[in-house]
Amino acid sequence: MNIYEIYTPAILLNLDYMEHNIKKYCDEAKKYGKEIWPMVKTHKSTELAKLQAEYGCTGYLCGTLDEAEKLAEAGAEHIMYAYPVATDVSIKRVIALCRKTDFIIRIDDLDAAKAINAYAEKEGVCVSYTVIINAGLNRFGVLPEKAVAFADAMKQFKNLVFKGISSHPGHVYSAKCHDEIQKYVEDECSSIATAADALRAAGYELEIVSSGSTPTFWGSIADKNIKIYHPGNYIFNDTIQLSTETATEDECAMYVLASVISHPQEDLYIVDAGAKCLGLDQGAHGNDSIKGFGTVKGHPELEVFSLSEEVGKMHVHGKTDIKVGDKLLIIPNHSCSTANLTNYYVGVRGDEVDHLVNVDIRGNSTTKSIK
Ligand SMILES: Cc1ncc(COP(=O)(O)O)c(C=O)c1O
Repeated sequence: MNIYEIYTPAILLNLDYMEHNIKKYCDEAKKYGKEIWPMVKTHKSTELAKLQAEYGCTGYLCGTLDEAEKLAEAGAEHIMYAYPVATDVSIKRVIALCRKTDFIIRIDDLDAAKAINAYAEKEGVCVSYTVIINAGLNRFGVLPEKAVAFADAMKQFKNLVFKGISSHPGHVYSAKCHDEIQKYVEDECSSIATAADALRAAGYELEIVSSGSTPTFWGSIADKNIKIYHPGNYIFNDTIQLSTETATEDECAMYVLASVISHPQEDLYIVDAGAKCLGLDQGAHGNDSIKGFGTVKGHPELEVFSLSEEVGKMHVHGKTDIKVGDKLLIIPNHSCSTANLTNYYVGVRGDEVDHLVNVDIRGNSTTKSIK
């Protein structure tokens, strides 16, 4: 089937572009003897996680426990959960995961550690963890210079096993152009180095030193401390990655296929894709360099300047040849958000539909903890 015969809006995935992206990052990691454990919250698909492993990814980083459980069921050996757990229901799920696979949590708080340890002790399970290092995002994490004091304090928890350190330089999304990325790479590598050097000097063995994001990957891949990288968005890329030249248009693998359904005013075209496909995301951390709500492929004159739930409004800068009934491919601003708005991607090669890719681990896709 040709993609232009599909009912719109539809979320398309160019499989050739996506495979190129997975391979490109794995090849670079291999060159430096590094591992990639991709952040899977970008795609939330068991099929794509398996594909990443086929190309050489050796573990996974998850954004939800749903993702971790699904990947464990699918046989994944090494799974890390990116965010701290602090409630009984989550801790129980962590313990169950530890029984099933090599599951690693991240910790940055002693009260949470105490609660996890108490449950682990009761269940006779050891829980592996890394200490989150704040590399400048100022979200989770202990300051690099406090890593030893924190690790020392964690020694009281006998059922928690120290594995190393992790960080995420997510503040890189403040960068407005390619040259600005380097500053965040330096934040990432220097924070990790401060923590790693101090921990080693204090006698800690660092089995895991993990970090990463898509924009900082290329600058930090040669770092002497980081062993495992966690890019997520790289599998699809998007308009945000285009804005810092982290990806080219042919590396943006996800599109929203939309139809022009109205031309009610001279400078106004309406498409049948709105916030429920494209997402309202315009970038994180106060970055206002992204204008509008996506990049219309092949039509630099079009700007999607406003979205309501099911439709988008476009202005024309200069001349355009589009007309009502035409179909357009729109690269979303943030593919991770778009991906979470569909049950399946339409996998395409060129203009032909190849197969549907199940998005089987979306947010709230499990009712497990509800009786
Ligand atoms: C903790 C953590 N690690 C890694 C990533 C992946 O970053 P990116 O999508 O920029 O590759 C994210 C994404 O938000 C994250 O929260």
